[in-house]
Order: sequence, then structure tokens, then C-alpha cells
Amino acid sequence: MSRVRVHNFAVSLDGFATGEGQSLDAPFGHAGDRLHQWFFATRTFHAMQGKTGGGAGVDDAVVRTWNAGIGAEIMGRNKFGPQRGPWQNHEWTGWWGPNPPFHTPVFVLTHHPRPALEMEGGTTFHFIDATPEEALRQAREAAGDLDVRIGGGPSTVRQFLVADLIDHLHVVIVPIVLGRGERLWDGLEGLEERFQIESVTTPSGVTHMTFTRP
Ligand SMILES: NC(=O)c1ccc[n+]([C@@H]2O[C@H](COP(=O)([O-])OP(=O)(O)OC[C@H]3O[C@@H](n4cnc5c(N)ncnc54)[C@H](OP(=O)(O)O)[C@@H]3O)[C@@H](O)[C@H]2O)c1
Repeated sequence: MSRVRVHNFAVSLDGFATGEGQSLDAPFGHAGDRLHQWFFATRTFHAMQGKTGGGAGVDDAVVRTWNAGIGAEIMGRNKFGPQRGPWQNHEWTGWWGPNPPFHTPVFVLTHHPRPALEMEGGTTFHFIDATPEEALRQAREAAGDLDVRIGGGPSTVRQFLVADLIDHLHVVIVPIVLGRGERLWDGLEGLEERFQIESVTTPSGVTHMTFTRP
């Protein structure tokens, strides 16, 4: 069966994967871009922005596996945008512009479903109110033989970990202390017993950890 994967998921030393106070101008709240400076420096990120250059070292080698063999993504509504509650308008189409970097169906979990949104480049956002199991069923159907990526944010990744639906988790520990925000690890005591774990620290100072189902 296809695998369920998380990639390039940045977490601060104190366990936060986003800051407090998300807004249109601050997708990561008070964390700003501190969780992702290492990522922005990579060649892969530059290419995602349609730019040349960027580091081609170990961070890039790890990062660039994020899209290989992926046929669908599941994300939480707060990764898609800053609106809360019933949609005030349907004009918001995500942070990524007209041609988002996913190029697959993307299932956005929300208690406020709305019509699907077809973007350029093969990305279609489907807004669904579903349990992790049901969301995964739909994403697997859309992905065919390919894998499903859980794209975040932290509360969505946590739900899928609690439900034991993740086969491969790549977390990037970033040496910053955020103090507040949304935690990844809450309620997951003993998680390490389910996975084979490897860690490697790179010259940028981040530590890549992979949790792989044996
Ligand atoms: N550190 C990283 O690498 C990384 C990666 C991706 C994203 N992020 C950041 O993480 C933040 C978002 O994370 P988050 O934890 O706040 O939120 P999230 O996981 O993106 O979304 C949570 C919201 O999704 C909806 N939802 C989740 N599960 C649902 C379900 N089973 N059924 C129906 N609706 C469901 C609910 O919204 P409603 O009730 O409002 O519909 C819920 O409040 C953003 O700042 C984003 O930029 C960080």
C-alpha cells in the first residue's frame, strides 16, 4: 500500500512548529521566518520560487525528496490560510499564488467545507470535513499508487500521528526557542517506540530526524 509521509517539518527546540498570532502578513505568527531560514537557503526552495541558485549541500539533498512519488497532500485549514470560522469570502486561494507547488490534489481539512478550487499546474484544493482515516481514504483514492503527504500544520500532523497513520516522518529541529505557538509533540508520549529513528545535524545547524515505520 502507498505510504503516508511528512517532509521538511520544522520544529523549534521547545517543540513548536508555528508561532502565535497567525495573520495575512505573518503565516507563522510571531515565529516569522525563523523556523525556515535553513530551508529558504536551499536550491530546492529557490527552484520552487522559480529562481536559480541556493545551497546544494546536505539540507538540499534531504529537502528535495519531499515531492518524489507523492500523489496527494492533506493539510489543515490554517496551513491553507489565516481565516477562521465560516469563510467570509472565497477569494482567498492559499499563500502560494496561482500555481501552487503541490501539482496534485490537496485535501484541506476544515469544519467549513466549500467548493473545490482548481489552480494552475495540477493543484486542486478539496475542502473536506473528515476524520484522519476518511481524509486518508480520499487522498489515497486520488493518489492511485503514489504516496500521500501530510503537509501540516502541527495540529494536523499530530492528529495523524495519534491515529498511527504516518509511515515516514521527517522533522527538522531548528535551534531556536519560540516560547509559544502550536506544539507538535503534545499527547504523543512513547511515539519513539513505533519508529526506527535516525538523526543527522548539518552545517546549517539544524538536525534532520526521520521516524520510519519498521
Ligand atoms: N513547521 C512547519 O514545517 C510547518 C509546516 C506546515 C505548516 N506550518 C504552519 O502551521 C500553522 C498551521 O498549523 P495549525 O496546527 O495551527 O493548523 P492546521 O493543522 O493547519 O489546521 C487546523 C485546522 O484545520 C481544521 N481541521 C483540522 N483537522 C480537522 C478535521 N479532522 N476535520 C475538520 N477540520 C479539521 C480546523 O479548522 P476549522 O475548524 O477552522 O475548519 C483546525 O482548526 C501555520 O502557521 C502554517 O504556516 C508549519
